[in-house]
Amino acid sequence: MADKKKMSVAEILAAARGADAKSGEASPATKPEAAPAAIEPAAEAPAPAPKAPAKPSAGGRPSVADIMALARAKKEAGDAPAAKPAAAKPAPAAKPAAAAKPAAAKPAAAVGAAKTGVQRDTASILAAARGASKPGPVSKSDAPARPVAKPKEPRPVEERSAPPRTVATLPPKPVKPAKKADEAEDRRGFLQIALGSAMAVGFSALSVTGGLFSLGLARFLFPNVLAEPPSKFKVGFKDAFPSGKVETKFVPQYGVWVVNGDFNGQQQIYALKTVCTHLGCTPSWLEAEQKFKCPCHGSGFYKDGVNFEGPAPRPLERYAIRTADDGQLEIDKSKTFQEELGQWADPDSYVTV
Ligand code: FES
Repeated sequence: MADKKKMSVAEILAAARGADAKSGEASPATKPEAAPAAIEPAAEAPAPAPKAPAKPSAGGRPSVADIMALARAKKEAGDAPAAKPAAAKPAPAAKPAAAAKPAAAKPAAAVGAAKTGVQRDTASILAAARGASKPGPVSKSDAPARPVAKPKEPRPVEERSAPPRTVATLPPKPVKPAKKADEAEDRRGFLQIALGSAMAVGFSALSVTGGLFSLGLARFLFPNVLAEPPSKFKVGFKDAFPSGKVETKFVPQYGVWVVNGDFNGQQQIYALKTVCTHLGCTPSWLEAEQKFKCPCHGSGFYKDGVNFEGPAPRPLERYAIRTADDGQLEIDKSKTFQEELGQWADPDSYVTV
C-alpha cells in the first residue's frame, strides 16, 4: 500500500464517471470542492477488507465518499485482477493524520518486511547486513531465546550490614635486640666517667696550684739564709803559699786571691777581694805580666792590689786573715780593709811570714 500511487481528484472523478456510465446509471453531479479533503486521506488508509457494497445515501444519490470508494475499488481491481471489487468503507475525515502517520514513520526495515512478507527484528537486519558468513536470525521466532536473568535473591541482612572484609595482615616486625638499651647505658656511663674525670682533673689541678702557692708563701716567709757561703774558711798552712806566689784556686768558690808578697818592705800573706773597684767586674791574674787586669774597662792592678791603669779609682780591698789554732790560715770575708783609708796597716789584714 505504501508504494501505491496516489490518485488525483480528477482521476478519481473520471473513474467514478466511467463506472457510472458502465452501470447505466446517470452520474449525479458531484461537488468537486468537497472531495479533496475526504479523498486524500482515504488513499493512505490501509486496504479494507472487501465488505458489502456501499450503501446509497439517504437521498438515493451516492455521496462523494461512496464515489471515491467505488473508484478506488475499481482501480485496484484493474491493477490486481484477482481482487474482488468491493466498496471500501469510506474513511472518516477526522482520521487523516492518524492514518498517514504510520506510513510516514515506517523505516526501510518495514519496506523489506513488506517485500519478504516476514517481520524482522533489528538484530536480524544488522546481522544480515554484516555479512552472509554470519547470518543472524531471520525472524524473532528464529532468534535464540535470550537467557532470562534470574532475579537476584536478596542477601541476608547480616551480610548486607556487615560485609566480610579481608584484613590485610602485616608481617610481624623484627624484634630489635636490646642493643640500644645497652648502648644508652654505655653512653651514659661514658658521660659520667668523662664528667667525673674532668671534675677530678680540675680538682687535682686546683689542689696542686694551692699546694704550690703554699710552698711559695712559706719560702717567702722563711728564706733559706744558709745558702750564703760561710764568711770564714780555711785555705791551708803558710807553706802552701810560697813567696811571690798568687793563688787563684779559691776564686771560683770564695772570690779570693791568696798572695805571698812584699808590701812596704814587709813580706806578708794577705787575701785580696776579686772585685774591680771601678764597676765591680772580676779582673784576671796575668802571671806573665805580674798584674790583675780587668776585662771590662781595662783597669790594671799590681800584685799588692794597688791600681795603676784604667778607670779604677782606688786599690783592691783586703779580707781579714789570721792563723787559726790548727796553724792554718783562716780568711774572714765579713771584714774588709781599704788602702786609701790606711786600713792595710791593720795587723788583721795580713799575716807575716
Ligand atoms: Fe774593672 Fe771597669 S770594672 S775597669
